[in-house]
Amino acid sequence: MGPLQIKEILQTAPEQQSVVIKGWVRTKRESKNAIFIALNDGSTIHNIQAVAEPGQFSAELLQTVTTGSCLKITGKLVESLGSGQSVEVKIEDILVYGTADPDAYPLQPKKHSLEFLREIAHLRPRTNTFSAILRIRHTLAFAVHQYFNDKGFFYLHTPIITASDAEGAGEMFRVTTLDLNKLPRTDEGAINFKEDFFGREANLTVSGQLEGELGAMALSKIYTFGPTFRAENSNTTRHLAEFWMIEPEMAFFELEDNMDLAEDFVKTVIGYALENCKDDLNFLQNRLAEEDKNKPQNERSIPLLEKLSFVVDNPFERLTYTEAIDILLKSKPHKEKKFQYPVGWGIDLSSEHERYLVEKHFKKPVILTNYPREIKSFYMKLDEDGKTVRAMDVLFPGIGEIIGGSQREDNYDKLLERVHEVGIDPQTIWWYLETRKFGTSPHSGFGLGFERLVLFVTGMGNIRDVIPFPRYPKSAEF
Ligand code: 4AD
Ligand code: MG
Repeated sequence: MGPLQIKEILQTAPEQQSVVIKGWVRTKRESKNAIFIALNDGSTIHNIQAVAEPGQFSAELLQTVTTGSCLKITGKLVESLGSGQSVEVKIEDILVYGTADPDAYPLQPKKHSLEFLREIAHLRPRTNTFSAILRIRHTLAFAVHQYFNDKGFFYLHTPIITASDAEGAGEMFRVTTLDLNKLPRTDEGAINFKEDFFGREANLTVSGQLEGELGAMALSKIYTFGPTFRAENSNTTRHLAEFWMIEPEMAFFELEDNMDLAEDFVKTVIGYALENCKDDLNFLQNRLAEEDKNKPQNERSIPLLEKLSFVVDNPFERLTYTEAIDILLKSKPHKEKKFQYPVGWGIDLSSEHERYLVEKHFKKPVILTNYPREIKSFYMKLDEDGKTVRAMDVLFPGIGEIIGGSQREDNYDKLLERVHEVGIDPQTIWWYLETRKFGTSPHSGFGLGFERLVLFVTGMGNIRDVIPFPRYPKSAEF
C-alpha cells in the first residue's frame, strides 16, 4: 500500500533495483562531478541521498529543487560510496510536486531558534528536532495504550464537554452557543443558561477522572487518554491551556497499589521509547550536548539516554509530605534563606521545593504521599488522623510534578462533608456521589500529564515544543 517509506528503503540491500522515493528536500549540493539531494519523508530522522550527474537535468528543473520542495525521484538503489549512509539512489527521473521559493521558505538549512520555530508551527514538523519529537510522542502514546491493554485495563472515552468542575478549583473554558451580544437574561438579570445549548452552564473538561471513577465502578480497571483544558493564566515552561492526560482508575486499589502502578507504568513507557526510538533519542541527545558546550562544566546535563535509563533502572524514593517538609526545613537553602517561598507544614510545595527534593536531595524521582487535606482535592481519601489525605504526587527531575493521584474517598458521608467544605453544590455531581451509595469500594487513580512525559523523554526545555500546536495564553494561531 502506497510507496515504500525512506526508512524502509534505507534498510534495503542495494541491488540496482528500481525505487521510487518521495519526500521533501532537506539540502541540495552541487559539485563538479555530481548533484546530491538529501530527501526526507519524516519516517525517520535519516535522509536518503539521491545523486544525479551534472547535465543530466536542465538548469531550469534543478532550480526548482530547493530546500523544502517536494519531489518524486525515480532511480536505482545502489551502494553508497559516501560516508554516513550505506545506500543511495542513482537518479533517473525527478518530478517536482511542489516548489518552495528559497526567498520565501523560512526553513533554510541553518540553525533556527525554538522561539522562531514556534512562530512557524505549521512548518516546524519538517525540522529534524520536531520530527524526532513527534515520532517519540507517537511512540509513547502507543506504549501507553499497549501497557494498559496488557494489564487488563479498558480505554474509557470520557466527555470533553462537561457541566461539572472535577477539581473544584480549576479555571475552565466556557462552552456556549449563546449570542454574546444578546445574552438571554433571567428576571433577576443574570445570564439565563437555560437557553444555552445544554440548558445549563457547560465547560471544557479539566480532567476525565470523575467519569473515569464511574467506569472503574463497573469495569474495575479503566484508563482515559484525552485532551484536557485549563484556563489558568500560567505562562510557564510546564503548563499548557490544552494538554493530554492519561488517567487510570482502579477499583480495589489502595494507595500503595496506586504508587506501584504509577512507577511501573512510567518506567515501562520510558523503557519502550528507549528501545524503539533509538535514532531520534540519539539525535536529541547530541543536540542537547551541542547546546551544553557553551555552558560551564557543572551546569551541563547528564546525557539524555543515561538520564532515561537511570529512571527506568532505579526505584523511586517514597516518602510522606510531612517527611519532605522536615527535609526541607533542615536543608541548606532553607537555613540560608535561599528559597523564594517559605517552608512549613501546610504549604503547597512550590517547584523550587520539589526540585530541591528531587534534584539535590534524593537525585532521583520521588513519590510524595499523605498531603494536608487543605491543599488537595475534595475526592481524596482522608487519613485516620483527619489531617492528611491519601494523595500521591510523582516528582521528576527537571519537570517537577509529572503525576498527581490518590486513593479516593469511598465513604459517602465523609465525601459529602468534603464537598460542602470546599463549596461544591452537591446537586451538580449527584451522579458522582451515588457511586458511594451503590456498591462503593476502595479505589484509586492518578493523572499523568502526557506532555510532561514527552518533555522528560525528549529532554526539551519547554512544554510548548512537545505538542504539535500548543495552546497557551494569547496563542492559538495554528
Ligand atoms: O494534578 P492534576 O491537576 O490532577 C488531576 O487532574 C487529577 N484528576 C488526576 C487524577 O487523579 N486522575 O493533573 C494531573 C497531571 C499533573 O501531574 C501534570 O503532569 C499534568 O496533569 N498537568 C498539566 N500538564 C500541562 N499543562 C497543565 N496546565 C497541566 N496541569 C496539570
Ligand atoms: Mg496535581
